[in-house]
Amino acid sequence: MFTAALRGGLFAADRCWFPSRRSRFFQQQSSFLPHSATRSMMSRKLLVDVDCGVDDAQAIMLALAAPNVELLGVTCVHGNTSLENVCKNTLRVLQACSRLEIPVFKGSAKPILGECIDAGDFHGKDGLGDAPDPNAPVLDLLQKEGAVSAIIRIVNENPGEVTLVATAPLTNLALAVKMDPSLPNKLRGLYIMGGNTESRGNTTVCGEFNFAADPEAAHIVLNDYQCPTYLACWEFTCYSKLSWEFCHTWLAQDTDKARFMARIFQHSINASQSERLQKELVAGTGFISCDSYAMAAAVDESFITESDHYPVTVELTGTHTRGMMVVDTVGFLKKAHKAHIMKKVDLEKFKQMMMAALK
Ligand code: BDR
Ligand code: CA
Repeated sequence: MFTAALRGGLFAADRCWFPSRRSRFFQQQSSFLPHSATRSMMSRKLLVDVDCGVDDAQAIMLALAAPNVELLGVTCVHGNTSLENVCKNTLRVLQACSRLEIPVFKGSAKPILGECIDAGDFHGKDGLGDAPDPNAPVLDLLQKEGAVSAIIRIVNENPGEVTLVATAPLTNLALAVKMDPSLPNKLRGLYIMGGNTESRGNTTVCGEFNFAADPEAAHIVLNDYQCPTYLACWEFTCYSKLSWEFCHTWLAQDTDKARFMARIFQHSINASQSERLQKELVAGTGFISCDSYAMAAAVDESFITESDHYPVTVELTGTHTRGMMVVDTVGFLKKAHKAHIMKKVDLEKFKQMMMAALK
C-alpha cells in the first residue's frame, strides 16, 4: 500500500531525470515551505494524448481549468472514433474553452497490430455524442508535425519537466519510445487511464478499452517507460464513480462550457442506462468520467490518497485475456519497475476540479 504521506516522501527518489534550473530553484525554496505546498505551487507542463471521446473532453477541460497547468499540446490517436474525428473533437473542445492556440498533433490511425476497434456505442459515432456542431473548427488548424515526433521533441525540449497523460490506446507513446528510448528518463511522470486489476473488461471479457484497442502498445509502454507511472484502471474508476445528482448539478451550471458538455454527453448518459452498461460498470450505477481521474492525478499529486505499487504488464495472447493488464503481486516477472495503481482518491477534490472545468 502506498499512502499519500509516503508518496510525498518517495517522490524525489522516484525520479530519474536531471532537475532543470527552474526545478532546482523550487527545490531550494522548499526549505522555507511545507513540501506539499511547494510542489502544488509549481506550474506543471502537461502533454496529453487522447482519443477524444466525451471523457477525454472532460479530462482536457479539467486540465485547462487547473490554475497550475501549462498544456504544451494535445496529441491524437485512434480509439473511441476515427483519427480524423479525434482530431476534430480535440479542436472542438479547445474551441469551447477558447484555447485554440494550444497545438494539436495528428498521430497513429491504427494500432500496432490488427484493426481498429471503437467505442461509438457509448461516445456516439463521432466520439462526441453525435451532437451537431456547425461551427466546428477546420482540420487545417492541426500542426503539420506528427504526434509521435511532437512527443519526442516536446519532452526533449523540456527535460524532466513534462508530465505525460495518456487517456487513449497507447500507440503514439509506444512508437515514441521505440524511436527515442531515452524519452521515459526525461519525463516527470506518466499518467495513464487504462488497464484493469480484477480481469473485469468493458470491451472484451477481460480487457479495458484503451489496452484492448492496442495490446502491443500497452505492453511496450508498461515495459519501456521506466519513469514514475500512475494507472487509473477501469475497476478503480468504477469504484470511484460520482452520483448522477452530482452530474446533474455539474451540467446545470450556467456557462457555455456546461451547455457544450450537456450536448456532447447526452448520448453517453442515455447509453449508461442500458443493461449491458449497467453490468460493465462494476459496483452499481453512477457517473464515471474515466479519463478525468488520470488527469486529476497529474494535475494535483495530493489527489491520490491510496495506491498499490506493483510491476505490471499486458497479456498478448489468450482467447479471452488478450489486452488484459497483469499485476505481479509476488514478483514472478522479476521486473524492477513498479507502477502506482490508484486505489483511493480525494473525491471532494475531484468534484471541485470537475465543477471548475465547466465554469
Ligand atoms: C477508456 O475507454 C474510452 O472509451 C474512454 O475514453 C476511456 O479512455 C475507458 O475504458
Ligand atoms: Ca479516452
